[in-house]
Amino acid sequence: MNQQLICAIRPSASSYAIDIDNGILSSKTRIVETLRNFSSTFAVITDDIVAELYGKQLCQALSSAHLNAHLFSFPSGEQHKTRATKEALEDQLFEKGFGSDICVIGLGGGVVTDLAGYLAATYCRGVPFVTIPTTLLGMVDASIGGKGGVNVPCGKNMLGCIYQPNKVIIDPSSLQTLSKKELRNGAVEMIKHGLIADEQYFEFLENNVEQLLALDSTPLKRAIFESCRIKKEIVEHDVRGQGKRHLLNFGHTVGHALEHLTDYSLPHGEAVAIGMLVEGHLAMQLEHIDLDSFDRIRKILISYGLPLHLPCQYPIQAILNTMASDKKSLNGEPRFVLLDKIGSCSTYGSHYCVHVSKSLLNNALQWMLNALCHH
Ligand SMILES: NC(=O)c1ccc[n+]([C@@H]2O[C@H](COP(=O)([O-])OP(=O)(O)OC[C@H]3O[C@@H](n4cnc5c(N)ncnc54)[C@H](O)[C@@H]3O)[C@@H](O)[C@H]2O)c1
Repeated sequence: MNQQLICAIRPSASSYAIDIDNGILSSKTRIVETLRNFSSTFAVITDDIVAELYGKQLCQALSSAHLNAHLFSFPSGEQHKTRATKEALEDQLFEKGFGSDICVIGLGGGVVTDLAGYLAATYCRGVPFVTIPTTLLGMVDASIGGKGGVNVPCGKNMLGCIYQPNKVIIDPSSLQTLSKKELRNGAVEMIKHGLIADEQYFEFLENNVEQLLALDSTPLKRAIFESCRIKKEIVEHDVRGQGKRHLLNFGHTVGHALEHLTDYSLPHGEAVAIGMLVEGHLAMQLEHIDLDSFDRIRKILISYGLPLHLPCQYPIQAILNTMASDKKSLNGEPRFVLLDKIGSCSTYGSHYCVHVSKSLLNNALQWMLNALCHH
């Protein structure tokens, strides 16, 4: 059964539906019926891996319904989320004679949907955009909220836009081909959603580990639905990311610093998992959560296969220096999202993150180095 959420963005013309169902992508009739509402000409943007798995088939489905569809692909990987890739794709679209009446489809993981969204926002000053995420992280995170962009030498996502898609189409069965490592990256964001916003959902994730890792369709669809609901409710409140959207950054202040210090050899999901523990430790020291809750966070991360292991000892000062450039920093000091229990976070007036004392932060980082680094 098709499940639908509406992401209600103001003005209401920017609102869009998120459709979640098994087989939407592989059923010719369903995908064509959905997409033909947006144009009769489609630029399907994807990476080379997803092009083979799902891209060619999607273009064939559209072409067999007498719609004009072309596949444009670039090499998979974060290092290709660049201005150069965007420019090369734009030139290919112009060569085809594509104008403002086209619809851009971003088919793939977060790298593709971020890049395709930015391209759609600027191509002929903005054309309709549909995302079809094919990674778990893309489904529960990157495809919702309208943030698109590319990386530049001085940082990730430093050029981009907020441009809402016209539709998000999620087919959980497309995860069957995804690697376990990529599944874990998505699972971390789902666990984060439970922690920041919904204890019942967190319990559901605790109780369905094997089923979810085995991609059992009923619990998987429910988990994707709940995560999309939580993310869309947050972005509805804060379209531009100055307030409530900070909650989605739980675990990321420390996580991003660890990614940076390990030269990105620590995968994003693993870094954020450690970050959630360190930031959970801060909440524990402040007596917002007790040791049992902290242990639940550690256990769920282990149960989803997160190694929770740091490759080497980093000087605390180096971690602090890196965190100072976090986007939530104020006056050069990092701010943290703090749990007040499992399923909810503390708020500070209109703010959702806060400075903590140096000693608290030192204790949490020292705990991390002692407990998670065995060198
Ligand atoms: N816009 C946002 O709000 C937002 C939120 C979170 C993350 N992001 C961005 O998302 C990106 C990370 O996304 P990601 O984790 O999806 O990585 P990704 O897009 O690089 O995909 C991971 C790998 O999986 C492959 N793949 C995709 N779908 C597949 C499938 N169904 N079967 C087999 N292989 C498949 C891809 O080719 C790639 O090699 C980062 O650039 C990050 O900045 C954006």
